[in-house]
Amino acid sequence: MPQRASPLSVIVKSDLEETPRDMSSPAPDMIEQRFSVPFHFPVYFTDGMLRDPGNSVLRQAISRKEPGRRHRFAVVIDSQVARADPVLVRGFQAYACRHDDALDLVAAPHLVKGGELIKNDHLTVLGLQSWLHKLRMDRHACLVIVGGGSVLDMAGYAAATTHRGIRVIRVPTTVLAQNDSGVGVKTAINAFGAKNFLGTFTPPFAVINDHDFIATLPDRDRIAGMAEAVKVAAIRDTVFFEWLETHVERLRSFEPQAMRWMIRRCAELHMHHIGQGGDPFEFGSARPLDFGHWAAHKLENLSGYTLTHGEAVAIGLALDTRYAVTTGMLPEIQGERLYRLLERLGFRLWHEAFEQRDAQGRRQVMAGLAEFQEHLGGDLTVTMLDAIGRGREIHEVRQPLMDGCIDWLRERDHARCA
Ligand SMILES: NC(=O)c1ccc[n+]([C@@H]2O[C@H](COP(=O)([O-])OP(=O)(O)OC[C@H]3O[C@@H](n4cnc5c(N)ncnc54)[C@H](O)[C@@H]3O)[C@@H](O)[C@H]2O)c1
Ligand SMILES: [Zn+2]
Repeated sequence: MPQRASPLSVIVKSDLEETPRDMSSPAPDMIEQRFSVPFHFPVYFTDGMLRDPGNSVLRQAISRKEPGRRHRFAVVIDSQVARADPVLVRGFQAYACRHDDALDLVAAPHLVKGGELIKNDHLTVLGLQSWLHKLRMDRHACLVIVGGGSVLDMAGYAAATTHRGIRVIRVPTTVLAQNDSGVGVKTAINAFGAKNFLGTFTPPFAVINDHDFIATLPDRDRIAGMAEAVKVAAIRDTVFFEWLETHVERLRSFEPQAMRWMIRRCAELHMHHIGQGGDPFEFGSARPLDFGHWAAHKLENLSGYTLTHGEAVAIGLALDTRYAVTTGMLPEIQGERLYRLLERLGFRLWHEAFEQRDAQGRRQVMAGLAEFQEHLGGDLTVTMLDAIGRGREIHEVRQPLMDGCIDWLRERDHARCA
């Protein structure tokens, strides 16, 4: 469970400290318990965390609470990241030797398969937990998780449910994980056919965004992660949206400076929303950061996860933007800006999974709305746009209109491909 603050910083209002009650009067049949636990964690932006001998970010991250003592830590790595960088595993071992006064690497790094399918494999979670048990990892030891959003979610979940939460340092290695999922507070695995059905709200102990990892990422995944930047800009920041439009060619050719800035700004906006938005653990019914996601999660599933999360998000953004235009919420010209930006970044705004239908002939993707609502409970709340840079929540989606928007995306796609 979440990284706890020191007991001294927990504010407890205890009835026991108040004037003793008159024992002859009846005892109240309810005592209110109330406390709050502050969370804070650093997100470092760096290059060459292992490669550069002068880089001590990992050491700082692990020992940030007790710099005076030696810290036990273990490492889990996405096997595709390790394959793309053959010196990575040894890099951790060499780093631990260099910082032997502060760090104790308790075992050779453990590799797990990367990609969405790892979130369906509960045996991997158990395997990881059994490994943590064997290593006698306690709540003061650190698990460093290196990988894309899928591995961070899966291994983060395993760690969050071990001893009710051991310290986790996330090292996100994809654009999407560096600008969105890795700096957030959630972990999850898929179960019973539902995406992210099992999971926790668990802020990390620290996050290290190392730009080196982006260099080995396949182009498809580099593009996919930019969907989250378009998302957060569209609902929160007009200036960032305009910046994305202006620099779209630099981003499309993955120019390092542009990528770096895009990741940084997107992570800042994402973190600002979680920290200042008033509902970090999603107790309410709204999930503004999930603009475009009701359809995206369903499409990922219907496509058998051949669509990546980012690709599905791009389609979901276009769909809900078209819905906002159709209902008169958003001027058409602003909708066009969003579709054009996504297309110029390299996204296709249509997928054949939209045509999968149930026995009554209804598009199966529509079930995504009910699933989205069920995930949080309460009223259906879907984020739409009423301007570029300004999200707006609605509580009813007219399905025939939404169906028409899907048809519109298909026509647009066919016209582009013709
Ligand atoms: N917890 C959250 O708040 C949250 C938010 C958004 C998304 N997510 C989840 O994140 C997942 C998607 O994550 P993703 O887009 O990072 O994809 P991913 O983790 O599935 O990675 C994509 C592929 O790239 C490989 N890879 C990762 N980094 C690499 C690197 N540096 N070099 C070479 N290959 C590399 C992976 O092994 C995988 O095959 C989804 O499951 C999504 O639901 C979680
Ligand atoms: Zn997302």
